[in-house]
Amino acid sequence: MLVFSGNSQVVDMDKTNRQYPVHGAGLGLRRALLNSLMENPPSEVDFMEVAPENWIQVGGILGKKFRWFTERYPFVIHGLSLSIGSPAPLNEKLVYDIKDFMQEHDIRMYSEHLSYTSDDGQLYDLMPIPFTEDAVKWVADRVRRVQDILEQRIALENVSFYAPTDATLGEAEFVNAVLEEADCDLMLDINNIVVNSINHGYDTHEFLYKMPAERIRYFHIAGHHVEAEDLRVDTHGASVDDQSWSLLKDAYAHFGPVPTLLERDFNFPPLEELLDEVRQVKSLQNESLRKEASHG
Ligand SMILES: [Fe+2]
Repeated sequence: MLVFSGNSQVVDMDKTNRQYPVHGAGLGLRRALLNSLMENPPSEVDFMEVAPENWIQVGGILGKKFRWFTERYPFVIHGLSLSIGSPAPLNEKLVYDIKDFMQEHDIRMYSEHLSYTSDDGQLYDLMPIPFTEDAVKWVADRVRRVQDILEQRIALENVSFYAPTDATLGEAEFVNAVLEEADCDLMLDINNIVVNSINHGYDTHEFLYKMPAERIRYFHIAGHHVEAEDLRVDTHGASVDDQSWSLLKDAYAHFGPVPTLLERDFNFPPLEELLDEVRQVKSLQNESLRKEASHG
């Protein structure tokens, strides 16, 4: 079905509804943003995302506030601690809790990092999985189990990594192999491509164009910390940099206007500044739609 959007753009809604759990531009919901967002619910935010670990079993006033958001915005969740690549047994209790949480709040999709957390499960301690065939099989088995429990597909995110990893495959080959073997989806983080390309010396576009279009469910965009010219740290504590905006634009030109969520975890600017970045996402999406329509 072809429909004309508000700006007279032709959009194939059947295709986009099938592929994407949400549409447009999203914002990660963080506790520091709850009150300002409730005071002025922004219409430019099309969807939101939280880490389920931060909200499962949260009741009282905070739980009520969270419900206020899930009743008003489409939601996806992005896990922190499933540790999909870990040699430790899969935390099935967590997966069942996530399943209940998704039903309770009508959550559209669950994604996790293609990595493992260290024993103490720190947020910024996502370790890379060795890029090997054995690891592909190990991770894919665990993803299939998660999908069986949830009775739906999950998406894995390409992560930023810092320590050298045991690699017989390139990062892009490893990501593709896991997605195929597990038959799961991809949540593509544009900023992580930029961070890894600088830290590990590869070409952003070469990586981007190797990603499987049909498995992409949504994008992440975020800012990172510049430690040195050749060392970037994926902090989510800064505004999105020019290179990431430019790569996002090229990603839309290649894959179409994939739904995209802005991640900001700390060092929050005034809400209007964050919303400016959300509006920038929308404007790049609209620009790519206009180009698509004019090329027929
Ligand atoms: Fe991300």
